[in-house]
Amino acid sequence: MTVTSNDQAADLLGMYRAAKEHPDEVELPITGSMPQELRGTLYRNGPADWESGGFNGAHPFDGDGLMVKFTINDGAVRFRSRYVDTPKRRKELRGQGARIRGVYTNARSFRDNIGRPPADAANTHAVVHADRLLALSDAGRPWQVDLDDLSTLGPCTFNGQLPPFSRFSPHPRIDPVTGELFNFGLDVAPSLDNRTVTSLRCFRVDPTGRLSQLASIPLDHIYIQHDFAITPQFLVFALAPITVDPVAAALAALGKGALGDSADYRPQLGMKVVLVPRAGGKPRIIECDPFVYIHVDNAYEDRDDVVLDLVRHESFSFLTQAAKRFRTEPVTVAGWPARLRISAAGTVTITDYPSPATEFPTHDERRTGSQHRYTYLASADQDSSAIVKLDRQTDTHRLHHFSPDMAPGEPIFVPRAHNAAEDDGWLLVVAYNGAEHRTELHILDAAAIEKPAQAIAVLPGHHFPGFHGSFTERITPATR
Ligand SMILES: [Fe+2]
Repeated sequence: MTVTSNDQAADLLGMYRAAKEHPDEVELPITGSMPQELRGTLYRNGPADWESGGFNGAHPFDGDGLMVKFTINDGAVRFRSRYVDTPKRRKELRGQGARIRGVYTNARSFRDNIGRPPADAANTHAVVHADRLLALSDAGRPWQVDLDDLSTLGPCTFNGQLPPFSRFSPHPRIDPVTGELFNFGLDVAPSLDNRTVTSLRCFRVDPTGRLSQLASIPLDHIYIQHDFAITPQFLVFALAPITVDPVAAALAALGKGALGDSADYRPQLGMKVVLVPRAGGKPRIIECDPFVYIHVDNAYEDRDDVVLDLVRHESFSFLTQAAKRFRTEPVTVAGWPARLRISAAGTVTITDYPSPATEFPTHDERRTGSQHRYTYLASADQDSSAIVKLDRQTDTHRLHHFSPDMAPGEPIFVPRAHNAAEDDGWLLVVAYNGAEHRTELHILDAAAIEKPAQAIAVLPGHHFPGFHGSFTERITPATR
């Protein structure tokens, strides 16, 4: 076990300092040897400024989204970054940050809170599909960002096909076989009988970028649902009873409290697994024992069963309470991998996997919707700073250790070639180096994960390692 000293913990707090954007592309210095066969572009998104223009973010989720781009070609890495040009960001740059209401941050004045939805920080995922780069978050709708220079092109409505009040979750899933993108949004609307209901809207975006609605499922509570999975037949949701309390939400709407604080874990509501047929038809809903989770890894069909892999947590308070101390204590995420097996008979079996405290599960995306052997995760708490590789065939895990003053983000697997075996490739890991107060891109050999990084590209400054990102083989030519 690695014990983080107070000094190391203090070093890690540097990642929450506001990051400078680098809109002009720079070539990064590299230590080690960048694999020549590794070619493509890594896009990532994450909050990187919590304090512009008088805004004083009370939670990491209220930071402005910084889109970053690493272009890897011919053994070199080019980098640029740019904040998403949201109304929130513009207001901050005009010096009006104190008038912004975030998810967990209230504006200074009562009148700037009352009746206001939380400002969209566009800070959670960078997704590439149908020649579009989208910046996504829970609190808003998609923003389209230029694939080359990262300038914000504007809101993406999919040519007007995304309904005006629908959300579009930050975790769409792309079917590697069909090229379709699937996603969902939770709409909140008062019903005719004056009860507040939520609709779980499910969307399909075809490989050319056309959106259509697959289903709209009424729900009896306002769920906080962040992620889901796909299989060849289904969209797979596990609706944990993390829900918005209508009374607290109504008070928050009146400016009494932050909107994010109206959500809580209510196990007495139970948990629902919802299987939405991709081909249309009635969804299947299966009740099971409740638990807390945020992120899904993958799902697949195993004969008549559906298997869903995700990361469980002991409680929801790490998001609602502990994360608010991000300016004085590094945020720790102590989840563990778990598997749900949903049988045709409607039973749900939950299996936990031993692992260091972890989060941000990923897999070889050629296996999205089909059985995968390996899950990659980031571990960054006071006991462990590592990338974890979970082998589901042997129920074992292997680690790539970082020093305790480093915080690695979500690992993204890139295969060595189109036909390479699962795990034959690299893990791209953006990590914050607290000792040097800078951010770095580490290239790991996935199959030999314990070994030192093959290459480390050093950024000109720092930013929070980000929440989520995507790798594409597309390469933008150098600008000079
Ligand atoms: Fe997420």
